[in-house]
Amino acid sequence: MKLLDDALTQLERWHALDAVAEPVRAVTRAAVKPRLVRDLLSGTGLGHPLHPVLTDLPIGAWSMAAVLDLMGEPTERGADVLVAAGLVAAVPTAAAGFNDWTETNEAESRVGIVHAALNVTALGLYGASLAARKAGARTAGRGLAFAGLGILLTSGYLGGHLAFSKGVRVSRAAWHEGPVTWQDVGAADDVAEGTPTLVEAGGVPLLLVHDDGRLVALDNVCTHAGGPLNEGTVSGGCVTCPLHGSTFRLADGSVVHGPASVPQPSYEVRVRDGRVLVRARRRKAPII
Ligand code: FES
Repeated sequence: MKLLDDALTQLERWHALDAVAEPVRAVTRAAVKPRLVRDLLSGTGLGHPLHPVLTDLPIGAWSMAAVLDLMGEPTERGADVLVAAGLVAAVPTAAAGFNDWTETNEAESRVGIVHAALNVTALGLYGASLAARKAGARTAGRGLAFAGLGILLTSGYLGGHLAFSKGVRVSRAAWHEGPVTWQDVGAADDVAEGTPTLVEAGGVPLLLVHDDGRLVALDNVCTHAGGPLNEGTVSGGCVTCPLHGSTFRLADGSVVHGPASVPQPSYEVRVRDGRVLVRARRRKAPII
């Protein structure tokens, strides 16, 4: 495992990859610029990043194709269908992955561009495998598919590293519990109309702002990648993150526009004797 850790560290520090990543990023940024495209590929309406949901489809199809290939002639037609299905599913999966990668930096960006290159290579091998199968070159078709699967698994390891070690697309507010009892965060007069105010409660930074005549509080750390919402813009009952433009409804923290897909935690607020009190919204008890 130490060997693997060392290899990943080397990859994260391989600055030469930046020269490849930047032109690719320019192209993907332009491709996902339309709000609709970005929201769709980010999983904004889903409430969950889209890419990890879609990856199950090509990986599942191509893994099962390998099993059928190993079983030989009786199941070869099924293997062909699964190779083709994996190719179809890989296209939106790659698009969602590129969308997520666009906003990564430094180490995450370098690992991400290698992850993408491996996936494109696997895609090419499976495309060639399908062509070989159609041409009747079964042995070559199976060999190309197994090579594709090996590359896909290597790439999957890097994808797991990005999510579980580097926290790409993990909500940055996931461990923010906030106070469960009312907590004084300051004087109501200090929160000027139309001006986002940063306060803290129970160790969690909160954005305090007037919305439609009442005070509301949201976690100040953008769930997408940790941007400071108090430095964003407030307009039309929403706050927009200054880093990548995710927009959250002030009333309840729901996501209006991505790239965020997870809502911003929203807090209960009340004013007593000129003081602002906040507490975390009660969460439903888990069903056991
Ligand atoms: S950090 Fe990316 S939109 Fe807020």
